[in-house]
Amino acid sequence: MRTQRSWIRCREAWNRRPALVPNVCKIQRYPEGDSVRKIVYFVTSSLDGFIARPSGGIDWLIQAEGDEDFGFSRFQESIDTVIQGRHTYEHVLQLGPYPYQGQKNYVFSRKLTECQHAEIVRQPVPEFVRWLRDQPGKDIWLVGGGELAAAFLDAGAIDELKVFIQPILLGEGIPLARYIDRDIRLTVIDSHAFRQGLVQIHFEVKK
Ligand SMILES: NC(=O)c1ccc[n+]([C@@H]2O[C@H](COP(=O)([O-])OP(=O)(O)OC[C@H]3O[C@@H](n4cnc5c(N)ncnc54)[C@H](OP(=O)(O)O)[C@@H]3O)[C@@H](O)[C@H]2O)c1
Repeated sequence: MRTQRSWIRCREAWNRRPALVPNVCKIQRYPEGDSVRKIVYFVTSSLDGFIARPSGGIDWLIQAEGDEDFGFSRFQESIDTVIQGRHTYEHVLQLGPYPYQGQKNYVFSRKLTECQHAEIVRQPVPEFVRWLRDQPGKDIWLVGGGELAAAFLDAGAIDELKVFIQPILLGEGIPLARYIDRDIRLTVIDSHAFRQGLVQIHFEVKK
């Protein structure tokens, strides 16, 4: 989940790092491999299933209070790789210093030719994921957005969803998974209600 506080914490962590050395990313092609690492769609949603307003706005996310970070720090320790769709990546850039600098970053895009913080992926999702899971490392955070998450779900490439449901109805917006081609069945592993009204549900994707 990315509450506004989580964003701020990411930015603070980033600000404490040594100066950024920009790297122009290359478009890569990847060989195939076996699956080992978990891919987790860790995301915040309105009660009616939207991850952003139609314009992309996330102003409705609950501001965390005190030391409560909704488990975000623990989750961050479990991953070392971040995957985003182009829209999400471009939105993240507008929010301040790049928050995922300590991670290996991939951005799916057919349009981008270069980007500062990530490698651009044009591979079909299944091919890329087979390669990625075969690389040594921690779990992988699929940040979103809804279009890329749907492509991953359709490909059977997501192992778990950690969805933070905000106590709000938006009525319209960008769905948590848009354009999925089939039903995706889930098993609830755990759930937790936070005092701020936020509810986290941890799902495993039935294979
Ligand atoms: N609430 C939350 O926790 C949360 C989390 C994540 C994102 N968001 C929000 O969600 C919004 C963005 O979501 P979105 O659904 O509009 O977009 P998105 O999934 O972030 O990005 C869509 C773009 O990713 C690329 N893409 C997607 N699938 C691809 C594939 N299979 N192969 C190659 N490229 C692929 C395409 O880029 P090209 O057009 O370049 O080909 C596509 O236009 C943002 O406003 C963001 O802030 C919210």
